[in-house]
Amino acid sequence: MKSIAIIYGSSTGNTKYAAQLVAEKLVGYSPVLKDLADVSSEELQESDVLILGASTWSIGELQDDWEAFFPNIGKVDLTGKTVAFFGTGDAEGYPDTFVDALGILYDEFTKTGCTFVGEVSTEGYTFDDSQALRNGVFVGLPLDEDNESDKTDKRIEAWVNSLKPYLD
Ligand SMILES: Cc1cc2nc3c(=O)[nH]c(=O)nc-3n(C[C@H](O)[C@H](O)[C@H](O)COP(=O)(O)O)c2cc1C
Repeated sequence: MKSIAIIYGSSTGNTKYAAQLVAEKLVGYSPVLKDLADVSSEELQESDVLILGASTWSIGELQDDWEAFFPNIGKVDLTGKTVAFFGTGDAEGYPDTFVDALGILYDEFTKTGCTFVGEVSTEGYTFDDSQALRNGVFVGLPLDEDNESDKTDKRIEAWVNSLKPYLD
């Protein structure tokens, strides 16, 4: 079985909560759950699969821990590794920059040689624009704890199930 790390950057706890739910749904896969604030760039290379969580702040910007970590990303070789993103945002408060952080990270992680999985259809989301879109789909799983927290559990469950073929 592949080694899995779930790594989140979270300022008010929403992405941390989502990361815990992702971990719960992968319990049989023994993932490690880490706060990005405690993670070195070398540690990114220790797992076969990286499930990375980020919130969006400051109108389309990365969460603080990701902002600080960002310069390291392009220096890491993740060839042969699998990366999936999830992120929290606020589609009502910030409809033009909904979960932008996912797109910012996606672009930077393309430099690492990793393989991306976990894209998500826009169906069921109401927003105007997002940097997290590539070819009309989200590069990862958007969550909205501010307005749609009732949907979070089901969204994570469906997404985690979609990842499972890549985890064995
Ligand atoms: C000042 C401020 C700016 C924000 N900017 C955005 C944004 O541009 N896009 C977005 O989707 N959400 C935005 N949000 C919403 C947060 O991303 C959301 O509350 C998220 O769940 C926070 O997650 P965290 O507690 O894990 O950091 C913003 C929130 C605040 C308070």
